[in-house]
Formats: sequence, C-alpha cells, structure tokens
Amino acid sequence: MRARLAPDLPIQRCGAAGWLALALALPVLPVLAADQSAQLEIGKKLFMSGAVPACAVCHTLQAAGAEGAVGPVLDELKPDAARVAKALRDGLGQMPSYKGKLSDEQIDAIAAYVAQASGGAR
Ligand code: HEC
Repeated sequence: MRARLAPDLPIQRCGAAGWLALALALPVLPVLAADQSAQLEIGKKLFMSGAVPACAVCHTLQAAGAEGAVGPVLDELKPDAARVAKALRDGLGQMPSYKGKLSDEQIDAIAAYVAQASGGAR
C-alpha cells in the first residue's frame, strides 16, 4: 500500500504550493502597478530638475515640457530603458555620466520614465 501511494505525493504537494503561490501573488499585482506609476513620477522629477545637470537643459521631451537643444530630441530617438540607463551610467560624447551622482534606483526611474514618455518602451 505504501509503495503505491508514494508516487502521488510529490504531485499533490506541487499542486498545493502552486495554488498557494497564486493566492499570495494576486493581491500584490495592484501594488506593483502603483509602484510603477510612482517610479515614473520620480523619473519625471529627476528629468526636469532633480538630476544635476538636469536632462531637460539639454534634451527635448514633449511629455515633460522639456525643450533643451544640446542633445538628441528624445521624442525622435525613442530610446528603450536599457539605452537610457547605459547613457546615464557611462556618459556619451558631451553628455556627462551620472554614475556616483544618481543611485541605481534613480537611474532606473529616469530610464523607465524616458522610455515610456518618448514612446521607446512600446
Ligand atoms: C550637458 C547636456 C546634456 C545633459 C545634461 C544630458 N544629456 Fe543626454 N545627451 C547629450 C548629448 C550631447 C547626447 C549625444 C551624445 C552623442 O551621441 O555623442 C546625449 C545623448 C543621450 C541619449 C542617447 C544615448 C544613445 O544611446 O544614443 C539619451 C537616452 C540621453 N542623452 C538621455 C539623457 C538623460 C535621461 C539625461 C538626464 C539624466 C541627460 N541625457 C542629460 C547631452 C546631455
């Protein structure tokens, strides 16, 4: 008897764990959406004035009302978040690196915001 029942056990355990994981994950989803819009809001503020020098001084991004003309127009470039984050960490040509001036969280927030606001995230 025991030998016959044993093979069923792992499957039952797996099923229970799966349902438990789902039950735990569902209430978290709206929180994640709220986190994301909070992150975009932080990214926008950093873009306009929080980052030093502010991105808006050099870049045009319509959604932010920025009209800088030193660097590329972000509405045309439509960079994805990874491209923005790389430019911020490494710098590029005349653009300064923000490594050491902005935290990883701040860089991620600006990158997410620029990708979303420029259309690069779509
Ligand atoms: C002093 C002016 C200046 C500031 C401030 C500045 N940039 Fe730039 N940025 C530039 C220039 C110039 C380039 C083009 C560099 C090149 O291609 O040689 C550029 C390029 C970029 C690119 C394109 C990178 C690529 O891969 O082609 C992105 C994205 C970008 N900037 C985002 C930002 C963001 C976000 C900020 C604020 C945190 C910012 N920039 C601040 C001048 C600036």
